[in-house]
Parts: sequence; C-alpha cells; structure tokens
Amino acid sequence: MVDEVMRSTQRPEVIDATLAALDPDRDRPPSVMEVDSLTLRFGEKTILSDVSVAFPRGTVTALIGPTGSGKSTFLRTLNRMNDRVSGFRHDGDVTLDGVSVWAPHQDLLSVRRRVGMLFQRPNPFPMSIRDNVVAGVKAHGIAKGRQLDVVAETRLREVGLWDAVKDRLGESPFRLSGGQQQLLCLARALAVGPEMLLLDEPTSSLDPGSTESVENLMRQLTPALTLIVVTHNLGQARRVSQSTILFYDGRLIEHGATSELFDAPRDPRTQRYVNGLMG
Ligand SMILES: Nc1ncnc2c1ncn2[C@@H]1O[C@H](COP(=O)(O)OP(=O)(O)OP(=O)(O)O)[C@@H](O)[C@H]1O
Ligand SMILES: [Mg+2]
Repeated sequence: MVDEVMRSTQRPEVIDATLAALDPDRDRPPSVMEVDSLTLRFGEKTILSDVSVAFPRGTVTALIGPTGSGKSTFLRTLNRMNDRVSGFRHDGDVTLDGVSVWAPHQDLLSVRRRVGMLFQRPNPFPMSIRDNVVAGVKAHGIAKGRQLDVVAETRLREVGLWDAVKDRLGESPFRLSGGQQQLLCLARALAVGPEMLLLDEPTSSLDPGSTESVENLMRQLTPALTLIVVTHNLGQARRVSQSTILFYDGRLIEHGATSELFDAPRDPRTQRYVNGLMG
C-alpha cells in the first residue's frame, strides 16, 4: 500500500498537480505583463516608439522621465484607457498573463478589474465614503448586501483609514483631506481584487505624511500585487521600487535595477536626468 502511494506520488503529473496547488503562480509566466514593441500614435503624432518591457510579478517598477516623455500615455495604454482617445492607433502588443489586452475575446471591464489605476488627483465618486469603497465590487457583482459592509471595513483597514472614517461612513468623501481621499481611492481600487495597480504620480498632490502612508502601502501591496508607479520624485522611485524605467521623448531609454539605474546609469540622458540636470 505504502509502495503504491509512493509510486503514485512519484508520477510527474501528481507531483505537478501538488506543486501547482502549493504555488498557484508556478505555471504562470514570471512576468504578469509584457509590452512588446509598442508604438502609439494619436493621429499623425507618434507618442511612444517601439517600447518593449516586462513587469515581473509581485514587484514595483518606477517609471521616470521628463515632462511630456509619454509616461502617462504609456500607463494608460496598459489597461486600455487610450482606446477611445481620438486618433489612437498602435503597433505591437501588451499581454496580461500571456494574452493580449486587445484580443477579441478580452473583456474590457475584466482588464480594468485586473489592472487598476490611481491618478495624480484623488477622484472619489459623489457618493458616501462606504459606497465609494464598494462601487466596483457592486458593479462587478463580487459581493452584495451585508458582505459589502465587510468589504468596506476590510479595505479601509487595509489602507489605514478605518479609524478616521468609521463614524462617518455615510458622509461625503469630499470633506476628507487630500491624502485621505487618495487612500480612499486606493481602497476602492483594491476592493475589486486587482493583480496590478498603475499609479500615475499618486502622491504629487499630497503632504509628506500622506505621501509616506501611500509609499508604505505600496511596499506592503507587493508581492501580492504588481505595481507600476510614475513619479517625478526620484527619492520615491528609490524608496519603493525594485526596478526603474527611464522614458525620454516617447522611448524607453534605460531599464534596470533601481539602485543600478540611479547609481550607475548607462545612458547619458539617464545620467543627466537622475542628477537633476534635466527637468
Ligand atoms: N489625447 C492626446 N492627443 C494628442 N497628444 C497627446 C494626447 N495626450 C497626450 N498627448 C501628448 O503625448 C505626449 C506625452 O504626454 P504624457 O502626458 O504621456 O507625458 P508625461 O510623461 O506623462 O508628462 P508629465 O510628466 O508632464 O505628466 C505629449 O506630447 C502630449 O502632448
Ligand atoms: Mg503624466
């Protein structure tokens, strides 16, 4: 009997199934998202040229570069937020878990659910604090009724906002501070269970204390999530990311481990940018 069990557990398919159950990521590509030769135009204007990059699962990647270099446009392409911009055309591809985000069977809502976004200015919806957190959960039919209260409390606790808002869950979010509003938007983004979060200068309108809270959260969200953060704050890029990308004039100029890119940049444009010689 023991022999039989030993024999059966040595069968490769049994071992594979056991390992897959222990580590659900085992059979998935190591990069949650890959961008392959992406060129993007709005009308006749080329905004991004031949960008290729992979985002390893469970890491934070910082995206830096001068103003107008295409960082926001790039980020918004990853969850298809540019699709409806007038004149939008692209070559190349963006794949999520190996499947093109533009594949015909790909559902736009499900891409947005899997790849959430946080913007520079907090954008709470004109509804109560509680309803803000569960808005996406309700829309996607993930939870209902009393479960929604549990979701709201869990996510508000996760972002460290529960104590500040627990007695005013039915009130408008617009009386919260800017930092609290951004944390609320983060709670809303997390509530639908994304795999990735795209953060476009998420702390540039926040005070240092709120910035620190958001940075701490970003670190805590990995390795469960994969984050890409656009920032003009080079200290922030160093503090929160494992790898950094430099964009210049719509091109990916350099991509490497954050410490290497800052301490030993290879490209002269990266050198100038990280040394503050280029805005
Ligand atoms: N809808 C649009 N139509 C035409 N051009 C656009 C559109 N959106 C952005 N652009 C252009 O694309 C280029 C890149 O803009 P983008 O906002 O991506 O830069 P950025 O790196 O995010 O800059 P910043 O650091 O100032 O936020 C700019 O030249 C901008 O004018
Ligand atoms: Mg931008």
